[in-house]
Order: sequence, then C-alpha cells, then structure tokens
Amino acid sequence: MEACAAVLVARGKPCKNLKEAAETYRALLDYAQVFGRSAPVELEIGCGNGAFIAQLARRCPERDFLAVEVCTNVVLTAMERVMREGPSNVRFLNIPAEILPCYIAEHSIGRIYLNFSTPLPEAGREKQRLTSDRFLAIYRRLLCAGGEIVQKTDSVDFFNYSLRKFRENGFAVKDVTYDLHASEYAQENIVTEYEANFAAKGIPICRAVAVLQAE
Ligand SMILES: C[S@@+](CC[C@H](N)C(=O)[O-])C[C@H]1O[C@@H](n2cnc3c(N)ncnc32)[C@H](O)[C@@H]1O
Repeated sequence: MEACAAVLVARGKPCKNLKEAAETYRALLDYAQVFGRSAPVELEIGCGNGAFIAQLARRCPERDFLAVEVCTNVVLTAMERVMREGPSNVRFLNIPAEILPCYIAEHSIGRIYLNFSTPLPEAGREKQRLTSDRFLAIYRRLLCAGGEIVQKTDSVDFFNYSLRKFRENGFAVKDVTYDLHASEYAQENIVTEYEANFAAKGIPICRAVAVLQAE
C-alpha cells in the first residue's frame, strides 16, 4: 500500500457509522493539488483491477479520473497497474462509495461509470445496490449540471431496475442497449475484466447513459 501512496488519495472509513460519516466528515479533494492541473474530473465506482479506468484515462488525456474501490486487495492490483504502466491522470480512493461526499466536492464530477456493479437481487439488500435511491441521491450531489452516469451490467433484471431508478430520481435515460457488443456503441466500448468473462460465455451486455436533469 505504501508503495502506491502517489496514486492513493483516500483510504478507509472515518468512523464506523457510514451514514454519519457521509454527513459530517469532510476531507474534500483539491483536484488542482491532486492532479497538478485543472481539468474535467470523472469517477468510476467499483473499479476492480483498474484495467478499464487505465485504458479510458489513456484514451482521454485531457480529463482526470478518480477510481473508487472498497476492497483493499483489489484496489492494490489496480494501483500497481497504474504505478507500473501509467497513465498519470488516475487516482484511487480505497473507500466505500457511501462516503464519497466526504471526499468529493458537490457538483464537481462530469461522469460516473458503474461497470458490472453487483446486482444484489435479494430484497433486503436493495439499499446496497449502486443504483438504489440512496446512491442516486449521492450521485446527484456529486455530478455537475447535465452530468452523466454510464452503466454496464450483464443482469437484465438489475438493468431494468436501474433504468426505473434513474428516471424516478431525476435522470433522463439515453443510448440504451441490451446487447452492447452488437450495437452501434461497440466500437468505442472499453471492455472491463468482468465484461470479458461474461462476453466469453455468450452473455449479452446491457448499457445505458443516465443524464442528470435540472430540478
Ligand atoms: C463485480 S465487480 C466489477 C469490477 C469491474 N468494474 C469490472 O467490470 O471488471 C464490482 C466491484 O465493485 C466493488 N464495490 C462493490 N460495492 C462497492 C461500494 N459500495 N463501494 C466501492 N466499491 C464497491 C467490489 O469490491 C468489486 O471490486
């Protein structure tokens, strides 16, 4: 972990109660200090091994990228990749997404990527789904006016649930496909680790963009 300090900008939980932390603890990132410049900032939540964000950041050198991952072993792999191979416009937060408001200033993020978030179909776990009302309220605070969420998933049920939740929470939904790899969006798509596994099994990939609407 220490060897990756140069790319790690937040770690752990400020206190046991995540709800209380999200409302009270503030250690907002100064992007100019973090990235050494002023550029549009985008965010991936649940970045896994970091292959997606590294490729996206390489493709878009004019933007900066924050990648969130709760699992320390997993984010370590992602950080080692970026330390080893670049690019220089990615930083990591090893925190649960629930406490993003502790670190990310309101209305400072242009786009949020949710790649293959765990669907959590059990009714009792709805609050933990990354497209539940609870998380969409957080994203509304983080996103700039007209900001977007780009979601990809292999689960049609989770996808349909997310589309409904986006619309109920003030987002307009566009560019919807239930088979990304056979769609017009395939060429620009960056395949994630989980996506490659699902595609290898012949499972179609769902993808949509949710655009934040003015209140
Ligand atoms: C199914 S994996 C997908 C990984 C990667 N995005 C991909 O497409 O290959 C979901 C990842 O999200 C992370 N995750 C789940 N809930 C999270 C949360 N509340 N905050 C941050 N990361 C979370 C998990 O630890 C896991 O690494």
